[in-house]
This record gives sequence, structure tokens and C-alpha cells, in this order.
Amino acid sequence: MIPLPFVIVLFLYISFQHVHVQAVEGGEGTYPFAAEEGAQIIDNSTHIPTGFYTFRHVETGKYLQFIDFMNQIVPTDGQNSTVFNGTLWTVKWHGDKNYSVHHTNRVKYDKCLSTRWDHTRGSDDAGVAWQCEVDNRTIDDPDFDIYPKFRGVYNASQPRPILGSHDRRLAKRYVNTYEAIRQDKQQWLFMRADPSQDPTWKNVHFDPSKGENAYSGSIVKPDRKKNKHSGSTLVYIVSAAHLWNMRSRCLHATASYVFDFTPSNTGVTQLDFCHFGNESLLWEMTLWKPKNFELGEIPDPRYIQEDLTAWEAAFGGTVHPSKAVMLWAALLVLSLFAWMWRMN
Ligand SMILES: *[C@@H]1O[C@H](CO)[C@@H](O)[C@H](O)[C@H]1NC(C)=O
Ligand SMILES: *[C@@H]1O[C@H](CO)[C@@H](O)[C@H](O)[C@H]1NC(C)=O
Ligand SMILES: *[C@@H]1O[C@H](CO)[C@@H](O)[C@H](O)[C@H]1NC(C)=O
Ligand SMILES: *[C@@H]1O[C@H](CO)[C@@H](O)[C@H](O)[C@H]1NC(C)=O
Ligand SMILES: *[C@@H]1O[C@H](CO)[C@@H](O)[C@H](O)[C@H]1NC(C)=O
Ligand SMILES: *[C@@H]1O[C@H](CO)[C@@H](O)[C@H](O)[C@H]1NC(C)=O
Ligand SMILES: *[C@@H]1O[C@H](CO)[C@@H](O)[C@H](O)[C@H]1NC(C)=O
Repeated sequence: MIPLPFVIVLFLYISFQHVHVQAVEGGEGTYPFAAEEGAQIIDNSTHIPTGFYTFRHVETGKYLQFIDFMNQIVPTDGQNSTVFNGTLWTVKWHGDKNYSVHHTNRVKYDKCLSTRWDHTRGSDDAGVAWQCEVDNRTIDDPDFDIYPKFRGVYNASQPRPILGSHDRRLAKRYVNTYEAIRQDKQQWLFMRADPSQDPTWKNVHFDPSKGENAYSGSIVKPDRKKNKHSGSTLVYIVSAAHLWNMRSRCLHATASYVFDFTPSNTGVTQLDFCHFGNESLLWEMTLWKPKNFELGEIPDPRYIQEDLTAWEAAFGGTVHPSKAVMLWAALLVLSLFAWMWRMN
């Protein structure tokens, strides 16, 4: 017969192996039709060649813009609403119809359009510029200058980002809730305005089976003034985060400078519910130059959690603190039983 303490230890071990404590997500909550909507969004989305793109909001003509100062992603304004380095993005592929949207800052840190979770409202509220944790093996700045000598215009009447980390009063306002950036938070889907049509690009298309662009002629030399590029198409920019359990979120060209929960990225672009046929959410994405990129990421060791065998967990290797506590608790129970047995 198997001794009782052993059975108990085994039971304890197996049960905590299967319990993963999930963060409680409050607020808006889950959406019962998410699975259906998610599948439709993927269906309605499209593959696009990887390369350098601009995104122009159709209704307002504003471009999605990266501003170095405090790593902002905001819709452009006034004279900045044009094609220049600040509005040119590197778009990479991650399998399925998922893509990431990159821009480097002045010190050559790779920033990605990322989905921000607002834990006070319980929903994804904005597109922000965070350190890329997907496809950051290589930094792929544009290898051409789309608007040489463009200096940009600063409009002093625009709301300015708040220097969070330098202001002690503000520092108190935000809770430091740095979340591990899940892959899907930096992935986006390009949902076609007209799902019956596939976009056409000049001399290039994306081959998902190979994971790279296929060329059928020479690449169009990008020329901003003559409006020469490899094609453009109308899309909704859908966040891949929470596609399967919440209402889908699309990028909308409204800047937000509200930040009482993130210490940086003080200028962000809002996300709103995706609504098929709502032209307020449409963007014209223009491929200025297609390019194949080396895929892959260098993982952050902080977020790697290895699968441990019971042996490793008990006697060596890097043990997650909660696992160690559980194991020692189990051992304690075991010795308690052994002791009780001896008393009998
Ligand atoms: C500057 O911003 C203000 C407020 O948004 C706007 O009314 C004005 O037209 C802008 N000026 C320029 C030159 O873009
Ligand atoms: C724009 O980017 C290109 C390529 O990365 C660079 O060579 C050029 O100096 C930049 N131009 C401006 C005005 O910042
Ligand atoms: C315009 O672009 C420049 C260069 O990226 C940036 O410094 C400036 O803040 C931008 N101004 C506005 C109002 O977006
Ligand atoms: C693409 O995004 C969807 C939605 O988040 C996700 O279910 C899927 O696994 C992603 N695919 C890849 C290859 O990452
Ligand atoms: C997908 O496209 C069809 C039109 O072809 C539309 O009726 C449907 O609402 C779209 N689905 C979503 C989730 O946007
Ligand atoms: C269309 O989208 C805009 C921007 O997100 C939103 O303000 C508006 O309420 C939407 N309209 C409908 C009918 O969903
Ligand atoms: C890639 O992302 C990981 C995870 O955040 C980070 O540790 C690493 O430094 C990044 N690599 C590059 C080249 O930016």
C-alpha cells in the first residue's frame, strides 16, 4: 500500500501545478461574443508586405506619429501632418495576420505600438510607445530619407506631455503597474475596409508560407513629392490583445494626455471599440518601401518561467518563490504525518 503522507504530498504537488493565479480584471469585463467577433476580425484582416509604412487617418488626415520627447505616439497636427521620419513606421510580421509597428527613438531604442491596459477602467484604452519585446533582434530603421531636412513643427497651443518621472507630486499619482508585455499587446491586425478585396501592391506581395515578401519586379523608389510608393489600402488597426475575451479595440486618431497610471508615455493615441463600417476608424496605410526583416526576439530573462520538474523544484535550479513555499509546506505536512505515525 502507498503510504498516506506520500499520497497527500503528491496531491498537493499536483494541485498547485495546476493553479495559476490570474490577475483580476475589473471594469468593462469580458464580452460573450468575443470569440465570434475575433474570428471575423481575423477573417476580414489581410496580409500585407513587411516594410516601411505611414498610417493616415482618413477622416482627419492626421498621421500616426512618433515623437521622441517622452516616447509619444500621437496623431499629427498642423504642419507635421505629412510623410516624414516621424510618421514612417517599420512593420514586421509575427505569423497569422499579426504584425508589429516599430519606431526607434533618438538613442536608437526600438519602440513598438503597444496596447495599454487601463486597470482603473478595466479595458484597453490606448496605443502607446513601449520598448519592443517582439521582433527586436534587429533594429530596422528606414534605409532611405523620405523627407530630407524636415525639422518638424512644435505647436505650443497643443497639450504638452507631463514630465512624470521628474515631478514628485505626479510620481505619487501613478501606481507602478508595469505589466509584462505580452506578445499580443504589441501585435496588430489590419482589417480591410472592404473584406471582399485583397489590397494590391506594386511588384510585391506577402507570402505567409515563407514569411517574407515575394517580388515580381523592381521595388518602386519612394518619392514623397511625386507620391510614388508601392501602394496603399484602407484598414482598421485592431489590437490583438483581448481579441478572444473582450470587445475588440481599434486605433482612433485622438491624442490623450491622461496618465495617472503609467509613469511615461504621456502622449498616447486612443483605442475605441471597433465598429465595422464606421469610417471614423479607418486609416490609409501606405507602403513606401517593402523590406524583408530578420525575425525573432531576445527574451527578457525576468519573464521567462521555466517548466520545472518536481526534482528540480525541490533540490535545485531556479525556483519560483511561490512554488518553493508550496513545496516546503508539502514537506512540512509530510514530516508532520511521519511524526504522528511514530506517535501511534
Ligand atoms: C495649434 O493648435 C491649436 C489648438 O489645437 C490650433 O487651433 C491651431 O490651428 C494650431 N496651429 C497650427 C499652426 O497648427
Ligand atoms: C530620417 O531617417 C533617415 C534614415 O533613418 C536618416 O538618414 C535621416 O537623417 C533622417 N532625417 C531627418 C530629417 O531626421
Ligand atoms: C512635430 O514633429 C516634430 C519632430 O518629430 C516634433 O518634435 C514635434 O513635437 C511635433 N509637433 C507636433 C505638434 O506634433
Ligand atoms: C495572433 O493574434 C491572435 C489574437 O491575439 C492570437 O490568438 C494568435 O495566437 C496570434 N498569432 C501568433 C502567431 O502569434
Ligand atoms: C467582416 O466583414 C463583413 C463584410 O464583409 C461585415 O459584415 C462584418 O461585420 C465584419 N466583421 C467584423 C467583426 O467587423
Ligand atoms: C465611430 O467611431 C467613432 C470614433 O471611435 C465614435 O466616436 C463613434 O461613436 C462611432 N460611431 C458608431 C456609430 O459606432
Ligand atoms: C528585446 O526585448 C527584450 C525583452 O524586453 C530585452 O531584454 C532586450 O534587451 C531587447 N533587445 C533589443 C536588441 O532591444
